[in-house]
Amino acid sequence: MSNQILKAVNSIKEGKLVAIPTETVYGLAAPFNQPELIKKIFELKKRPLNDPLIVHVASVEDAKKLVKTWPKICDLLAKVFWPGPLTFVLEKNNEINDLITSGLNTVGIRIPDSKVALEFIRKLGTPVVAPSANLFKKISPTRPSDVSEVFSSEDVFVLDGGDCNVGIESTIIHIKDHAIQILRPGMIDSEALLGVVEKNGYTLELPKQNQVMTPGQFEEHYRPNKPVHTIITDSMENAVLLADELGIDVPIHDWVILSENIDKVANQLYQYLRNAGNKKYDKIVVFAQKKYLHDQKWLGVLDRVKKASKSYLIK
Ligand code: TXA
Ligand code: MG
Repeated sequence: MSNQILKAVNSIKEGKLVAIPTETVYGLAAPFNQPELIKKIFELKKRPLNDPLIVHVASVEDAKKLVKTWPKICDLLAKVFWPGPLTFVLEKNNEINDLITSGLNTVGIRIPDSKVALEFIRKLGTPVVAPSANLFKKISPTRPSDVSEVFSSEDVFVLDGGDCNVGIESTIIHIKDHAIQILRPGMIDSEALLGVVEKNGYTLELPKQNQVMTPGQFEEHYRPNKPVHTIITDSMENAVLLADELGIDVPIHDWVILSENIDKVANQLYQYLRNAGNKKYDKIVVFAQKKYLHDQKWLGVLDRVKKASKSYLIK
């Protein structure tokens, strides 16, 4: 066992939380069957108890042990997308503490695509709950240093698995009665899901605009250290005019400009916002092209940008 993993397992035994790497963002982990440690997660993050946690498992077998029923579609989806950034919400069984699910009768489960995280879960011998390792409503961590800047080493052991590859949180789907509903968009998009869902007789429902789909999906979320003003329009020229009208004085070369490379933008989004927040201005400006609004691949990134924004102008 690597030294790091051994230290992480021992930290849990000593009553400390462990920040785990995943392909999406770093998570703040505790064993799913230790309510006292789970309470610590909520306290440290300043997270309200009505925001349920995702359980991270190392195998499909372990996922099955947490739920009442495991529809066949789950095997098919797991085969294609696990380990990976897709969370299943399914009816929970009695082993799952209400603290994890905020009293709901469902539980969110995924297998993260990180060798380090999976080895940790296996050595620990139990699944872990892990919300993103940030303070409630604040920007998410995609590098180990993002975590250690916020939490002290006395409270949290940071298990270093390098930078996250995907960069935004997992797609969350609710699975029930031949219907699959996207609760939180992410980089596994509707087109990818449809490929598996349709040919197996399920329907797919997209996230609804401006509707709270799931507890914990607050309007204000993922916020960096300064207010974000997002401008979505056809061209940079338009964006500059609109910024003028809004009285925004950040020069264009210091804006966060979302390029057409969606994978790269997702991968770097939180770092772009952090870097922009470290500049001398009192605000952050984000520019996105209007055509992204009609492209389902962009749903996840634009969802995060919107929630990170104080103002969000589409013109
Ligand atoms: O990529 C991710 O999912 C990351 C990494 C660490 O795995 N985790 C993450 O966790 O984003 P968190 O706690 O920041 O967001 C979890 C969200 C909750 O806010 C809630 O919206 C949804 O997952 N959720 C969890 N359990 C649910 C349930 N039973 N029903 C509906 N939504 C649920
Ligand atoms: Mg979060």
